[in-house]
Amino acid sequence: MEQIQKVPFLDLKSQQDEVRSELVEALTSTIDSTTYILGPQLERFESRFARYCDCRYAAGVSSGTAALHLALLAVGVGAGDEVITVPNTFVATVEAILYTGARPVLVDVRDDTYCIDVEAVRRAVTARTKAVIPVHLFGQTCDMDPLMGLAETHGFFVIEDACQAHGARYMGRAAGSLGHAAAFSFYPSKNLGGFGDGGAVTTNDARIAERVRLLRHHGQAGRNVYTDIGFNYRLDEMQAAVLAVKLNHVDRWTERRRELAALYRELLRDTDYRFQEAPPEVLPVYYIFAVRHEKQQAIRDSLDGAGIGWGNHIAPPIHVQPGYAFLGYQEGSFPVSERLARELVSLPVYPQLSNEQVNYVATTLGRVVVSISSATTER
Ligand SMILES: Cc1ncc(COP(=O)(O)O)c(C=O)c1O
Repeated sequence: MEQIQKVPFLDLKSQQDEVRSELVEALTSTIDSTTYILGPQLERFESRFARYCDCRYAAGVSSGTAALHLALLAVGVGAGDEVITVPNTFVATVEAILYTGARPVLVDVRDDTYCIDVEAVRRAVTARTKAVIPVHLFGQTCDMDPLMGLAETHGFFVIEDACQAHGARYMGRAAGSLGHAAAFSFYPSKNLGGFGDGGAVTTNDARIAERVRLLRHHGQAGRNVYTDIGFNYRLDEMQAAVLAVKLNHVDRWTERRRELAALYRELLRDTDYRFQEAPPEVLPVYYIFAVRHEKQQAIRDSLDGAGIGWGNHIAPPIHVQPGYAFLGYQEGSFPVSERLARELVSLPVYPQLSNEQVNYVATTLGRVVVSISSATTER
């Protein structure tokens, strides 16, 4: 018999219900406008999203993957180049590098923040390094200042993978404004999510923005003038209308995510669960909140048994995926990423979650650790 979920991992229905009338109004007016591609909804959303990210420009595109692809192309990445990134990311980060013809070079992450190890980047830089993609994992920015310092010394571009980090901050500055360009995803489950696929490139560089706008629209520079082999990577008007509505609420939702994360930490403080650590200069947005423990399977089983949804967000890492064996890495190449994949369990953390639900999850997790320790003692 199927277990009834007491606490689902994600509950998009409750989020849509909160803003349903605004969404219906925005969608209805877009339907009536009969402009569905490259119209006023997109322009309005782009200028507001740019401001939200402390950036001069935002270009809406069809997904986070498209955003990464176009950002790389816009800074000139192509065949013969190397692009450094991490193995504990969603596969799209590495896909986008491969689409350009460049070679992905992987480096491990830090054990405390789960984000790119800038010292490992320093060791991996070669004369061919054209770009680095730091992934702001789980809604927490990477250590950007030392990385930008390296970029200046070696002359490479930094493209933030901010697909999980809408509204996150580093030294008071917004994710999306920290590198030369950034890629965002508006996949429905993201902190800012549409009713389908969507994404954006943000930048302060007018040339990068212009290049992205050209390439997302078939390389069309003017009416019936095609200067480049481009793509159909546009963000449509219906998605832009939805995203513009939700952008009004995302900061409030983020605040609630922060409260929930703090509550989990407080309730689990006397256990041996570990958490992603945020240095003081980093303000996370908790796209994902995960506990870390060696007994990953026992934890998942207990959550299943209690009717609690959980997620598995970075496992197994890219370098051990069958389709990526050709990159030439082996199991053991990136010990921190591999350990994280074996130890993390993502918990429900959406803004509509109640404190009672968090209490229930934490109590369940507390029991697992107790039963694990007593099982260990009995042995
Ligand atoms: C870190 C990261 N990079 C890239 C992507 C790709 O975004 P999309 O699914 O919108 O193509 C995602 C989201 O799914 C992601 O989490």
